[in-house]
Amino acid sequence: MRVLVGCESSGIVRDAMMRAGHDAMSCDLLPTERPGPHYQGDVFDVIGDGWDLAIFHPPCTHLAVSGARWFKDKQQQQAEALEFVRRLLLAPIPRIALENPVSVISSRIRQPDQIIQPWQFGHGETKATCLWLIGLPPLVPTNIVEGREQRIHRMPPGPDRWRERSRTFQGIADAMATQWGGAVEQPLPLRGAA
Ligand SMILES: C[S@@+](CC[C@H](N)C(=O)[O-])C[C@H]1O[C@@H](n2cnc3c(N)ncnc32)[C@H](O)[C@@H]1O
Repeated sequence: MRVLVGCESSGIVRDAMMRAGHDAMSCDLLPTERPGPHYQGDVFDVIGDGWDLAIFHPPCTHLAVSGARWFKDKQQQQAEALEFVRRLLLAPIPRIALENPVSVISSRIRQPDQIIQPWQFGHGETKATCLWLIGLPPLVPTNIVEGREQRIHRMPPGPDRWRERSRTFQGIADAMATQWGGAVEQPLPLRGAA
């Protein structure tokens, strides 16, 4: 499958998809942290390039409910962030997963299809991650572990903290690649088709 991983600079999901045998490319305004197929620029430059599956990690800065106390001061930024998410969900791609923390996407666009935790995928940490899914089944937990430490508490302060916090857990990336990458055997009609 041709897989677009939008808003990803880490290369974690892209490389998991490639290991699973897919033709994957990441895209971000930032350069990729690991060598590999990557478009540095606006995701909408490449979104129409004939992808079978897209996984999007849009910025949550103005959307996450953990920042709700600042919402009243950034209504314009929040409206733009929501519009960005709406446009991603309308991409002409038959299978889409959009990932974000608990956020106003749920109240302003729609409820997520699934909320997952890293401890369901082999990491002893908590960080509720919402998934909005189109043409894809919910992820099945692969390795439920006991340790349940909040991810944020493990992160030292510093300028790269946001990047570390938003990095996809490897176990979740691997589950996406093996469970959604396998959806290649079940071609889906394009939305809007009769
Ligand atoms: C929350 S981070 C996602 C990080 C991701 N989970 C990873 O492992 O790299 C959001 C990313 O969206 C990128 N971004 C924001 N606007 C974008 C756009 N128009 N096109 C492509 N990437 C964009 C940012 O540069 C940032 O790296």
